[in-house]
Amino acid sequence: MIKNTLHLHTQFQIGEVDPRIFGGFLEHMGRAVYEGVYQPESRHADEKGWRTDVLEALKGLAMTNVRYPGGNFASGYHWEDGVGPKEARPTVRELAWQSIEPNQVGTDEFIELARRMKWDPMLAVNLGTGSPEEARNWVEYCNSPPGTLFADRRVTHGHSDPHDVKLWCLGNEMDGPWQLGHVPADQYAIRAQQAGKMMKDVDPSIELVLCGSSMPQLATYLEWDQTALEYMGDLTDYVSLHRYVGLGDKETADFLAIPNSIDQQIEEVDATCRFVQGKRKSKKRAWLCFDEWNVWYKTMKPGSEHMQGGGKFAPPLIEEIYDLRDALVVSGFLHSFIRHADVLKIANIAQIVNIIAPILTRDDSLLIQSIYWPFAMFSKRRNGISLSPKIQGEMYESSRYGDTQVIDSSAILDRDHLHVFLTNRSASASQVEIQLADRKLSGAYNAECLTGPDPLACNRWETPDVISPKAFSDCKIDGSSVDLTLPPYSFVAATLQLV
Ligand code: AHR
Repeated sequence: MIKNTLHLHTQFQIGEVDPRIFGGFLEHMGRAVYEGVYQPESRHADEKGWRTDVLEALKGLAMTNVRYPGGNFASGYHWEDGVGPKEARPTVRELAWQSIEPNQVGTDEFIELARRMKWDPMLAVNLGTGSPEEARNWVEYCNSPPGTLFADRRVTHGHSDPHDVKLWCLGNEMDGPWQLGHVPADQYAIRAQQAGKMMKDVDPSIELVLCGSSMPQLATYLEWDQTALEYMGDLTDYVSLHRYVGLGDKETADFLAIPNSIDQQIEEVDATCRFVQGKRKSKKRAWLCFDEWNVWYKTMKPGSEHMQGGGKFAPPLIEEIYDLRDALVVSGFLHSFIRHADVLKIANIAQIVNIIAPILTRDDSLLIQSIYWPFAMFSKRRNGISLSPKIQGEMYESSRYGDTQVIDSSAILDRDHLHVFLTNRSASASQVEIQLADRKLSGAYNAECLTGPDPLACNRWETPDVISPKAFSDCKIDGSSVDLTLPPYSFVAATLQLV
């Protein structure tokens, strides 16, 4: 067995990990809202209709913020349809997913849910079919003190205190021809600037996320970002990145090498932000907000019943079943986010329930999917400063993604604790020695390991616990080094105590 060495030094710091990279995304799509978080007829529903079993499961992920109401849905959504007495709200045809939307959950319900779950709400305005003024009015509804038209409407609906929503997305994936109201970058930039300016005029304390490129495969990749960023100037605080990855015709080794391309995407968008900042000679740069990311390929069939609701209410769209391999790729996204803690400030796994999600519901039952676990294992060890991880050891050549370390890694220093995250992309067990250059370890630790009987193993309704973390006790600590052996296709999260 080849030994891999992970070199760490507590002074080789990338930056503070922003807790907001542990965010989620809830869209009015398929069974995410209805039959996901909200189902008044479920035996698990509370008096407001929220599914308490789903909320309990979501607590295990300790998400810091949740983006709402879409997604593609946002580009056709009129927020005023979703406020006020429920019985007076319109049922509308929803075009992004060809579904029926009864508007029984809207702004006030989502904010109530977010506050209860300790999520910071992040709202995406409609820059597809909506107007900049509609976006401005939504900010007033949410954030202004009583005394003006939209704020008073909120008060009438029972919320005298402002909702105080800090993060606002200026549309969704406006670079994509699939998007309702898609336009070229220069026209999007005008809409975004008009909306963003008025939104900040209403509440200067809000932060704005500009729509960046929704995928590297589009011909407009990076040029879109440059055009929009230049036009927006200092008005924008973040630019969004999206990425869904899949197996396609790749081998497992190539699939597990995808995090190389996540690093690349982050670095290219970061370079674009710096370029625009330099060109504009501005003191302000846009930070990165990866506000949709996940593995998604088994149900990604445009035009299929997975992606078109057929005019139904709560149709079962893109309910991906995740295996161990997918969970390892999810760990790879999170390694990459932590390694880019200096520039990446927000990220939202898409989505939180039923739609390409860590949690599935069926009638009154609930299933935890494999991808739930890497998120949970990172999330409980997320506080601190990202350290630069240097791995020496086994490599392989991925035909798609180039030279790849067998061990993917990241590390966070949290005062007198060191969190280390390791993914073994090999079909064989791999030895890893962690070498901490400048500090000693006390010997105390806690660690857990996620693996399974084979890379295609999944949690299913009949066998729900095939992929779940187990305590990992195979750490031999000596002074400032740790020896561990990772099982084939596994992810280990360890917290080590420093002296
Ligand atoms: O998350 C599912 C969809 O993927 C979102 O609505 C859209 O923004 C993206 O294309």
